[in-house]
Amino acid sequence: MTRQVYLSGQFVAEEEATISIFDSAVQLGYTVTDSTRTFAHEPFKAEEHVRRLYQSMKVARIDPGMDAEQMLRVTLDVLETNLPTYTEAEDCWIVHNVSRGRSIPGPDPTVQTSPATIMIYTQPMDLRGWARFYEEGCHAVTAMSRIIPSQSLDARIKNRSRLSYTLAEMEVKLVDPDAQGVILDIDGNVAENKGGNIFLVSSGSLKTPTTSNCLDGVSRATVIELASQLGIPVHETDLQPYDLYTADELFFTSTPYCIMPATKFNGLQVGDGAVGATTKRLLSAWSELVGVDIVKQALDQLP
Ligand SMILES: Cc1ncc(COP(=O)(O)O)c(C=O)c1O
Repeated sequence: MTRQVYLSGQFVAEEEATISIFDSAVQLGYTVTDSTRTFAHEPFKAEEHVRRLYQSMKVARIDPGMDAEQMLRVTLDVLETNLPTYTEAEDCWIVHNVSRGRSIPGPDPTVQTSPATIMIYTQPMDLRGWARFYEEGCHAVTAMSRIIPSQSLDARIKNRSRLSYTLAEMEVKLVDPDAQGVILDIDGNVAENKGGNIFLVSSGSLKTPTTSNCLDGVSRATVIELASQLGIPVHETDLQPYDLYTADELFFTSTPYCIMPATKFNGLQVGDGAVGATTKRLLSAWSELVGVDIVKQALDQLP
């Protein structure tokens, strides 16, 4: 069975899901996006992802032509249609990309001149690139490029204009293939990773940047909820590279891997150089919440 994609009102086979070269996604990089994942084939926080998608669309002035409830229903239909293509042990992404439809060159961009292009698809959750970092930790490295200031493009609008994030990640990976980028803002504060948020542990508390310079990550929110249940204080605050160098533990959060520990920052060991106890506690609590051993699932994908 071929995976099916929802494309602006129709289900089509994945390889036939194409859009126009005149779409604003192509012409202007004008697409908002969201990505949910499943655990044991159940979507995790799909409502939150759809809510964030609608917030992104509102600020980006995209009218999708359907309300959030309909979008959620279609999303669950896409998942249900495609679940038979996944084995029991496999989970998947559920991705939304919504562009402003056909782009007509002209002096006035305020009017959406065609229906939005709505793309919803699933893809296998390939965790191999992150799996070994659960045990070894990755190397967090600051990129040379800075995050686009929120005064220009609010980082909370989850969008597909990924050039700056992708270049920043390349910069660190060309220095160390195991690196995961830490992107700073123009004032030198820690912002985020190209696809994740950043937390540190210091003297038993969690610290993470405020959303003034980073995406309001669903995984970030999940860590904050889990920490509150575990009695771990959380501070949302400005952080500088100094705070990461001197932290006891450091980790990234994102939908696919949930929590990815970092045991080195710019070449210096973080804490004692091993994945820390608080990071492990949070990972266990998350696994318990979703009924899937997150670390085992990733390690099982390795040859
Ligand atoms: C730039 C950026 N920051 C953070 C995140 C993490 O967000 P979430 O936890 O909702 O996946 C993402 C996710 O793709 C992202 O693209």
